[in-house]
Amino acid sequence: IMSADRNTFENVKAVILSAHKGATTKEKVSFYNTWADNYDQDVAVLDYRAPRLAADRISSCFSGVREEATVLDVACGTGLVAKQMKKHGFRHFVGVDGSEAMLEKARESGLYQELKQSMLGEDSLSEVWGSFDVVLIVGALSVGQVSINVIRELCNVTKSGGCVCMTTRSNHDNLEYKAALEHELKQMEEEGLWTCLEVTEVQDWERAVTEQEDGYISGAVYIYKKLLTLPGSRQNTV
Ligand SMILES: C[S@@+](CC[C@H](N)C(=O)[O-])C[C@H]1O[C@@H](n2cnc3c(N)ncnc32)[C@H](O)[C@@H]1O
Repeated sequence: IMSADRNTFENVKAVILSAHKGATTKEKVSFYNTWADNYDQDVAVLDYRAPRLAADRISSCFSGVREEATVLDVACGTGLVAKQMKKHGFRHFVGVDGSEAMLEKARESGLYQELKQSMLGEDSLSEVWGSFDVVLIVGALSVGQVSINVIRELCNVTKSGGCVCMTTRSNHDNLEYKAALEHELKQMEEEGLWTCLEVTEVQDWERAVTEQEDGYISGAVYIYKKLLTLPGSRQNTV
């Protein structure tokens, strides 16, 4: 059993490391097109817990009526986040992702009212969508994937009083990205756009796949609440 499991994990490791090699966003997304069929089973081997952790945190922070809340799942992939959110009573999901093959899997899940192909960092979210009670981006904020400037767009498509949930990895190759992300989150808080509700650092985020790391890597879940913005005024905090 040990060697069979090890083998499987070694295979998934190789797949993920090959994903990390892609330099451009296009390369990343075309990698996901090839991974879509095996994604769910492979991330289970990786013990990838981000969708559940994110859904648990946002669910405990959200004070509205969840059955009525509209949820935008950014970089939705195959739909693992909506699957977890549904367990917490959320029902209205819209998803966007750059990969058509991943979106096809999300479509098959039957969880989403609407799904759209969109390249984050290139296509504007707010030009396509109205605003949502909850906006999540899970497993996509990391070096080589979704750029930091997309964070403002997440805030743009959130209703005043709504919540944004973001996750990132805390392992070595992502530390610079994580610092830049936290800088932007803080900057936006200083501008009065939103307020931080909580940051949860998680030790056992997912199994490590790089040569330098062993066991589990850590990660973080950030929850921000969008503040009231009035047209005409630069910024208004509640
Ligand atoms: C690790 S998966 C996470 C999927 C899902 N949120 C989950 O937690 O299972 C990352 C997803 O982000 C998408 N993605 C990465 N960079 C993107 C970009 N710049 N624009 C659009 N989608 C992107 C990929 O296609 C992929 O589906």
